[in-house]
Amino acid sequence: MSTATAKLPRGPAYDPWRSWRSREGAEGIVAAGILAANARNVQPWRFVVDDGSAAGPAVRVHADPARRQGALDPFDRELYVGLGCALENMVLAARARGFAPRVLLCPDADDPAHAATVVLEPGEPQAGELYEAIPYRHTNRGPFRPEPLPPQLLGEIAGLGDKDLAAPALRWFSTTAERARVAAHLTEATKEIVADEDQSLAGHRWFRANDREVERSPDGMTVGTQGMPPLMSAIGKRLPAPSRRTADRFWLRQTQNVHLPTAAAFGIVTVPDATRAEDRLEGGRLLQRIHLFATARGLAVGHLNMMTVRADRERQLGLPSRFGKVLADLVGDPERQALVTFRIGRPANPAAASPRRPVAEVLARETDL
Ligand SMILES: Cc1cc2nc3c(=O)[nH]c(=O)nc-3n(C[C@H](O)[C@H](O)[C@H](O)COP(=O)(O)O)c2cc1C
Repeated sequence: MSTATAKLPRGPAYDPWRSWRSREGAEGIVAAGILAANARNVQPWRFVVDDGSAAGPAVRVHADPARRQGALDPFDRELYVGLGCALENMVLAARARGFAPRVLLCPDADDPAHAATVVLEPGEPQAGELYEAIPYRHTNRGPFRPEPLPPQLLGEIAGLGDKDLAAPALRWFSTTAERARVAAHLTEATKEIVADEDQSLAGHRWFRANDREVERSPDGMTVGTQGMPPLMSAIGKRLPAPSRRTADRFWLRQTQNVHLPTAAAFGIVTVPDATRAEDRLEGGRLLQRIHLFATARGLAVGHLNMMTVRADRERQLGLPSRFGKVLADLVGDPERQALVTFRIGRPANPAAASPRRPVAEVLARETDL
């Protein structure tokens, strides 16, 4: 396991990264779940611990409607993928702590917000490199080193879901021509998001400009996670909060100059039906697994979902399908649809942790839902 990680910032917003391992029982499973990747760090979850279930203790994962991304995720694609990412961490933590977890996806037909139940049956403790990687996995928005990744390694990553996930598969874009094709579309999609007033506003709502804002609201996108060198991040946090337009311009510039040209490969997770909650949850599990595996092998991952964000917006507004078509062409298989997109490579610098709301804040009682 690579231990090249950025120093964990001080303060309660980052305590969940320190304390997750020491929490026991079902709450310990939740403590692992909340460290998962999730779009814009909105943390779209609530958890119910059910000690009295007939099958044994269980943890229920619910979508939190108060944390939807609005125009950036009009059909809750990213919300459910994020819940899938949390599920993967929960399954790994359950196995490590001596349970044999059984995952039920969308178990309540009358309640679509009830995304999954993890039943904690007794088992043998099984920790592994993915579990150990949980606290070191962070989204990397800095430059990657100009080195290709061996095809064998990409093949190993593509096979990560084969044994227990039915829906998702991975399509790589790793040759120079393939990467240029994906990068050109991602640039165009980023420009469209920035030009769409409602999408730009929806994104800015989750921007946290300094430590005070993070303390008040331990979620969202922080200055420290934008992939800048530590000194520049420290200065950035002390400057007045940038305007929405300045932040959008910075994001487009970083996308064009850093994220896209330094990627060793782009990956698209595909599923049979990207509108189905079950496919999104399983796709999220694979995405998180890929990110954890990459972390364990010293690789970096950055998520780049501008094409799917635009494709869903086109559908919402009844616009002609531009990115819907682009994605279908990239996937190249009428039986499968693009769910999420990311870049991978060897990091030039370690990524920084993002804040989390504490477990106590995301635990709910049945009657609160
Ligand atoms: C479904 C999904 C979509 C995401 N889309 C993007 C994206 O387009 N751009 C980006 O920089 N990060 C994206 N992310 C990464 C999140 O912003 C990140 O997971 C979150 O801020 C928490 O940070 P962490 O992954 O370092 O824990 C996405 C993550 C998920 C799960």
